Amino acid sequence: MKRIIAPSVLSADFGQLRHDIEMIDRSAAEWVHIDVMDGVFVPNISFGFPVMKPIRRATSKVLDVHLMITDPERYTARFVEAGADIVTFHYEATMDIRGCIASIRGAGAKVGISIKPATSPEVLRDILPSVDLVLVMSVEPGFGGQSFMPAAVDKVRMLDKMKREAGLDTIIEVDGGISAANSRLLFDAGAEALVAGSSVFGAADPAEAIDRMLKA
Ligand code: DX5
Ligand code: ZN
Repeated sequence: MKRIIAPSVLSADFGQLRHDIEMIDRSAAEWVHIDVMDGVFVPNISFGFPVMKPIRRATSKVLDVHLMITDPERYTARFVEAGADIVTFHYEATMDIRGCIASIRGAGAKVGISIKPATSPEVLRDILPSVDLVLVMSVEPGFGGQSFMPAAVDKVRMLDKMKREAGLDTIIEVDGGISAANSRLLFDAGAEALVAGSSVFGAADPAEAIDRMLKA
């Protein structure tokens, strides 16, 4: 099983974005998580395409883009062109799941699908073979710094069982309220990638915070 940490840029200092990304680039984190919010799907607005470029220039790590936007199929391919290696959209945000998957794949990136805390993993059973990654939200999407919702652990277990039964190697990623206090629990449940914003960028030594989550 892989153990990947994906620091969330949402909690970085945008006044010194390049410095913060280069810091991640030197750390044990393998991915950089980029949260895009449109103020419609979630009650917050973060950033879009112009921020992708400086991030892409500052690191060679995997860019893991999390779209919290309505009708993501309108923009999925453009995020791949902007440098995304993985594009994850929300199950709840689109009427055209197949279209989202096709546009991301067609543009050359890996495909992720995410579920909010109130959405059951069961809805993903038929979609699982078509995606590379499932992102389980362990907070309501929209803001960093919220408390971890423990119900996410059972969702990870359910998805792990589902993917094994189907003979798939889908990556299970978890996002929200993650630190060294719960990383072990999530890795043990079957998660292979963990997003961490405030616990990384809020730490005195972010690289050490990442190591602690990996070794917990
Ligand atoms: C929330 C975002 C998260 C957020 C995580 O909507 O999807 O990626 O940045 O931040 P923390 O780790 O602080 O909960
Ligand atoms: Zn996220």
